[in-house]
Amino acid sequence: MKTLKPTDAIVILTGAGISKESGLETFRDADGTWARHRIEDVATPEAFARDPALVHDFYNARRQSMLNPNVQPNAAHTALARLEREWPGPVLLVTQNIDDLHERAGSTALIHMHGEMLKARCEDCTVIEPWQSDLALDTACPSCRRAGGMRPHVVWFGEIPLEMDRIVAALAECALFISIGTSGNVYPAANFVREARWAAGAHTVELNLEPSMGATDFDEARHGPATVVVPAFVEELLTSVLRGQPKVGSSG
Ligand code: APR
Repeated sequence: MKTLKPTDAIVILTGAGISKESGLETFRDADGTWARHRIEDVATPEAFARDPALVHDFYNARRQSMLNPNVQPNAAHTALARLEREWPGPVLLVTQNIDDLHERAGSTALIHMHGEMLKARCEDCTVIEPWQSDLALDTACPSCRRAGGMRPHVVWFGEIPLEMDRIVAALAECALFISIGTSGNVYPAANFVREARWAAGAHTVELNLEPSMGATDFDEARHGPATVVVPAFVEELLTSVLRGQPKVGSSG
C-alpha cells in the first residue's frame, strides 16, 4: 500500500452490518429485513403511492425498533468516532444506514446518503423535521399544516441518494477508503471502492463479516464482526501512522 501521511483524507462507507451487534437487523442476511418484506412493496415511491398505509406500517416498526433503549452504539461506531477525533486529516463517514448510531457515538463529519429514520419530511412544503412517533396518512405537517404529505426522510429504491456531490468529491481526494458492514449490492455505494481506487489511487480496505460482492476490488480485507475488526483496525491505523509503528496494509 502507499504510505499514509497523517494529513491524508479518509473516506469510510458503512452499511447495516455495523449496526447488527447493536440489535438492528441487516437487509440481505438470512434473518434480514428483505427476507420478510419485498422491496417493491415497501421501499419504492410506487409502493408509497399504491399503499401508503403499508409503507407507513413498515417504517413505523423500524423507527420504533431504533428507539428501543437496548439499541446503543457499539464498539465499531465508537472506534470510527475516535478515528475522526484523533486523525489529523479529513475523515468523512458516509453511511447507508438510516439509524442514528454513528452520531450517538460521536461522529460529526457524517453523511446519511440513504436518509434518516428519525426524521420525516413533507412532500408538500419539503420541510424536514426530527420525528419519533408513528406516521399515518392523516399526519399533519408541523410546518404547512397539510395532511397526507408526510413521509419518512429515507431514500427509496429509484430515488437519488443524498449529498452525492460531496461524496464524489471526497472519494476523488481520499488516500484511504474503508468499507464496513455492507454487502455491496446497492449502487451507487457499491461503486465507491472503484471510484476511490481509480480516481484517487486510494488504498482500499474492507471490514466485513464475510467477503462482499465487491471483495475483489479491495486491496486489503479483515473479516469478522464489526465490534472486533473495526476497533482493531482503527487502533492499528492510529498507531502505525501517527506513532510510527509498523504500518497497516498487509493484504489478505
Ligand atoms: N459485522 C460486520 N459485518 C456484518 C455483521 C457484523 N456483525 N453482520 C452482518 N454483516 C455484513 C453481512 O455479511 C453483509 O455483507 O453486513 C452486510 C450487510 O449487507 P446488507 O444487508 O445488504 O446491508 P447494506 O449493504 O447496508 O444494504 C445497502 O440496501 O436495502 C438497502 O437501503 C438499504 O442501505 C441499505 C442498502
